[in-house]
Amino acid sequence: MNIVLMGLPGAGKGTQADKIVEKYGTPHISTGDMFRAAISEGTELGVKAKSYMDQGALVPDEVTIGIVRERLSKPDCEKGFLLDGFPRTVPQAEALDGLLSDLGRSIEYVLNVEVEKDELVARLTGRRICKECGTSYHLQFNPSKVEGKCDKDGGELYQRADDNPETVINRLEVNMTQTAPLLSYYDGKGVLTNIDGQQDIDKVFVDLDAILQKNN
Ligand code: AP5
Ligand code: MG
Ligand code: ZN
Repeated sequence: MNIVLMGLPGAGKGTQADKIVEKYGTPHISTGDMFRAAISEGTELGVKAKSYMDQGALVPDEVTIGIVRERLSKPDCEKGFLLDGFPRTVPQAEALDGLLSDLGRSIEYVLNVEVEKDELVARLTGRRICKECGTSYHLQFNPSKVEGKCDKDGGELYQRADDNPETVINRLEVNMTQTAPLLSYYDGKGVLTNIDGQQDIDKVFVDLDAILQKNN
């Protein structure tokens, strides 16, 4: 299965990706996670990405397309992949199509998780993430059993640098501008499904999974 998971910041892409991976074992490719890993390793890519991410801006297309091209060429992607947060612009979508058609493949599912803006702000500002495994929690909506510790491995929970209120507003605005043309692009190809993301986490997954199962 070649899947693209779309949705504004805080829609639940990472949360639902974990569930898809658990059920199908598909490699999870999150450009945001890749940039954050590069920042913490202090690589050249990390230095480049950080200045954009700190402002809630998009990292330039050529940089982002380059890391995805490299990742998709790895052997674990041969049977399918789950892209989370890529593509985010029409040039990225076109580059992805070009890349895949060279390999004789295409995107089969674009799942767009829809959530209203006010809810997104609340989700992002209350999010906490495990330092060890990256699992997302939420202070109110999805709390860990022990405050400040991950349920899976006891790892310490932290707040992402771009989850402060000012950067959150900027991220939402930037992404809203880019999303509309991207949705039209995939709708035109007949692969787009909109999912109601404003339900319980498990119910959102039931809806997503129903789409994945329909054609398999
Ligand atoms: P990225 O890391 O992808 O961030 P994002 O798009 O802003 O999305 P998030 O990861 O914040 O949200 P999510 O949808 O994964 O939500 P989550 O599941 O965690 O990108 C970061 C930055 O990198 C970008 O700003 C940009 O600078 C750069 N970048 C990345 N990709 C790029 C690209 N293609 N091009 C250019 N630049 C790029 O959930 C959020 C919270 O809500 C959690 O607390 C969770 O517990 C809670 N929650 C989840 N589901 C529910 C639910 N159903 N009900 C209640 N709470 C819920
Ligand atoms: Mg995410
Ligand atoms: Zn953890």
